[in-house]
Amino acid sequence: MKFFIDTANLTQIKEAQTLGILDGVTTNPSLMAKERITGTENIKNHYKAICDIIEGDVSAEVIGTTYEEMIKEGEELAALHPQIVVKLPMIKDGVKACKYFSDNGIRTNITLVFSAGQALLAAKAGATYVSPFIGRLDDISTDGLHLISEIRKVYDNYNFQTEILAASVRHTMHINNCAKIGADVMTGPLSAIEGLLKHPLTDIGLEKFLADYKKGN
Ligand code: E4P
Repeated sequence: MKFFIDTANLTQIKEAQTLGILDGVTTNPSLMAKERITGTENIKNHYKAICDIIEGDVSAEVIGTTYEEMIKEGEELAALHPQIVVKLPMIKDGVKACKYFSDNGIRTNITLVFSAGQALLAAKAGATYVSPFIGRLDDISTDGLHLISEIRKVYDNYNFQTEILAASVRHTMHINNCAKIGADVMTGPLSAIEGLLKHPLTDIGLEKFLADYKKGN
């Protein structure tokens, strides 16, 4: 299972990178705005800065919503760095643009996916990644993890190569459950990733080992 961090914050990306388990970064316009990165050139430079920190895939989202806009913007983003994956919204023109990019060797991530049918379309269009948003489904009392299971089943039925990128992961149990279901990738905050480290018995056990060592030395 690949681990992506869902942030545009360079400090957090560096922190996750030092753990040695980071496979990529996802961003979106809201995450960029949160870091106060504005203006096309600054945003492009920020993507390049992220690519300089990590070795894996970096999803960069288009702002345009027409086919023509998405093609122009996506080509510019892809040209920034070989690690860039063009992130496209799950709308009709986004699907068309996805097919164009997959036919032209540019990797894609279809975002804002909330149903198995949308994920099926993304796979048919040759998306590299599909991003079902599990946290946002949970927010409206709909089981986000159930959607990951449905997409896993559909993709396995037809051996689609599109990777299921469980997005909008909010906490550590989301990661555990996505791993059990078989999501190929998860993207979430650093806090959710670091939550995997925690167990009180680990802390108690280590404390005792160190105390016993001190007694004998
Ligand atoms: C996915 O790529 C999105 O950036 C992200 O996971 C959205 O998460 P949120 O619902 O916590 O905003």
